[in-house]
Amino acid sequence: MEFIEQLKQRASENKKRIVLPEGLEERTLRAANTILTEGFADVILIGNPQKVNEAAAGFGLENIDKATVVDPENHDKMDAYAEMMVEIRKSKGMTKDQALELIKNPLFLAVMMIKAGDADGEVAGADNATGDVLRPAFQYVKTAPGISVVSGAFIMILKDKEFGEDGMMVFADCAVHPNPTAEELAEIAVATGRTTRAIAGFEPKIAMLSFSTKGSAKHEMVDKVATATELAKQMAPDLKIDGELQSDAAIIPAIGQKKAPGSEIAGQANVLVFPTLETGNIAYKLVQRMAHAEAIGPVLQGMAAPINDLSRGCSVSDIVNLVAITANQAAGNM
Ligand code: ACO
Repeated sequence: MEFIEQLKQRASENKKRIVLPEGLEERTLRAANTILTEGFADVILIGNPQKVNEAAAGFGLENIDKATVVDPENHDKMDAYAEMMVEIRKSKGMTKDQALELIKNPLFLAVMMIKAGDADGEVAGADNATGDVLRPAFQYVKTAPGISVVSGAFIMILKDKEFGEDGMMVFADCAVHPNPTAEELAEIAVATGRTTRAIAGFEPKIAMLSFSTKGSAKHEMVDKVATATELAKQMAPDLKIDGELQSDAAIIPAIGQKKAPGSEIAGQANVLVFPTLETGNIAYKLVQRMAHAEAIGPVLQGMAAPINDLSRGCSVSDIVNLVAITANQAAGNM
């Protein structure tokens, strides 16, 4: 796919160190081998080195010896990382003994490596639930300055080129924040607009989705989306945003014209912002499976360092693709 090949090319011009905490997981190891063979990022695997080597040999992977392997039970920075954890979380009651125990968990070790400058980004989640990947990141790496909420966007590559930007669309939040307030939803819309420009590479036309178009239904859930639309416009006057819109009014020109005449987004949307995580997560998975779309992501937006989470149903190429995105984020290309 041309889009991913471009990302890999850009990443290889300024190679970054991406830590994969699930270093014994088969798809992760296979992806690491592909990344090291193609050479677009340096890979740090967390796992017992002997077990990593045995697993790699068992899967017939020939380039895993190019990875740096860190044993979570035994490495020379355990104490330093534990000290940092206490420093960051002492107001929450973190003790040194607790930190020394937590740092053996690969998901905490990975974020502390990033915090200490020993890795540039992380991809995890082939084997761990989203919450378990995100919690250490929220607690130790935290959000970027000025951002209060992290969310997850998917680049959707549709077979049907009539939608979005020649078949490419961006959906959010599909991965992180279950029930955003109007203010948080506005922040998610703005972040998604920025992600679209940086990663998907086209000018966003953002539809704030609901079950109502421009007041056709009355409900507090509709009010939330209408308020979020106004707030997002104030936060980012440079972005084209409209709402509230139903999904058909957002993407089908004739319906957009009928239900929201005069809107520059209705019928033209290439970015869909969902009102809750429930709707976003259900929608992207249905489009991915039923329309045979490629779903690249989730790309986490708003974190202070690039940390991205996989779905546990991910394929090897999903991991390779997300590492390519993470490496570009780490290089400041997006
Ligand atoms: N952005 C930034 N920080 C956050 C966010 C957010 N969206 N959510 C929570 N935090 C912070 C909190 O402020 C808190 O910080 P503190 O400890 O310094 O005070 C810390 O993270 C932990 O917060 P909790 O509310 O205790 O965390 P909780 O575990 O309840 O919630 C989580 C966070 C895990 C992300 C939760 O919202 C969640 O499970 N979301 C759903 C994830 C998911 O299952 N997605 C679907 C699958 S993904 C897929 O299919 C691709």
